[in-house]
Amino acid sequence: TTVTLGIDVGGTNTKIGFVDRHGRCLASTHIPTGADKPFDNFLKDVFSTVEELKKEAGEIEMVAVGIGAPNANYYTGKIEKAVNLKGWGEEVAIADLMQEHFKVPVAITNDANAAALGEMKFGVAQGMKNFLVVTLGTGLGSGIIVNGDLLYGHDGFAGELGHINVVEDGRICGCGRRGCLETYVSATGIKRTMFELLADNNGSSLLSNKTFEDLEAKDIFDAAEQGDELAKEAFAVTGEILGKALADTIAIFSPEAIVLFGGLASAGDYITSPTREAMEANCLSIFKGKTRLVVSNLEGDNTAILGSSALAWQEYEKQQA
Ligand code: BGC
Ligand code: NA
Ligand code: ZN
Repeated sequence: TTVTLGIDVGGTNTKIGFVDRHGRCLASTHIPTGADKPFDNFLKDVFSTVEELKKEAGEIEMVAVGIGAPNANYYTGKIEKAVNLKGWGEEVAIADLMQEHFKVPVAITNDANAAALGEMKFGVAQGMKNFLVVTLGTGLGSGIIVNGDLLYGHDGFAGELGHINVVEDGRICGCGRRGCLETYVSATGIKRTMFELLADNNGSSLLSNKTFEDLEAKDIFDAAEQGDELAKEAFAVTGEILGKALADTIAIFSPEAIVLFGGLASAGDYITSPTREAMEANCLSIFKGKTRLVVSNLEGDNTAILGSSALAWQEYEKQQA
């Protein structure tokens, strides 16, 4: 079987797997990223893990490698200035180093960009040429597809939707600025909203006794399911801010669909209803009713690997052409 290798580098864990043309994951695993240690350690871990996976996958021919990572630059093949990968320094030439080892084409892109490629090749965006994927995890990422291709911009980092300003002098962001979209709309953002609501509301909620460290976005969903009004309010507030921001992106890109992806997207109607409502209400009239809001249908532990592998398939096909 012809396969590509998909690698998703996260702040804590790195997922690795072999994926065939149809999006079937033949073997996969995850390893600690260990970003507090030198980058060489990480490379060695990846190389030995791939040898193990090869035994598991059976007869395969690996034709390309795709890597998704925060602060990944497709143009340079480097991870640059990644705050969550401190031990690796200013930048690492991850694509070149992997190419030397594996002797096949290696490409790297932003994690949310990889998610967009995954949706286009294997998921809900098959056949679409203009759409956005918005990933709602610890942060908010986006991958913007224009005329069938990822939008990279002048320097390779285009599509940082998580860091557009939505509240003047608002919440402090990991990027060092204030009021960024991801400080409101992300797993962390909804937690911050929940705590503000709890503080204003004299504790009449199922989540009143939770500490910030204890609380997970999933708990807010569970409380909403049990009828907790404040938890529902947290989703309503989050969705409204997201919907307004999406209305602005529609004015710029006129996408056929916006795909919500990641942990918070699995909250279903709690997040999609207020988002869709605010998106439509704030949309320029010429765009009303033209952009669908959909949730990713890629499921399970391998979604990030599928995205990176879609990038690898794209590189492979470019080479064949
Ligand atoms: C980063 C993006 C990334 C997103 C999701 C954001 O804080 O700026 O590059 O795609 O988090 O990981
Ligand atoms: Na992106
Ligand atoms: Zn920011």
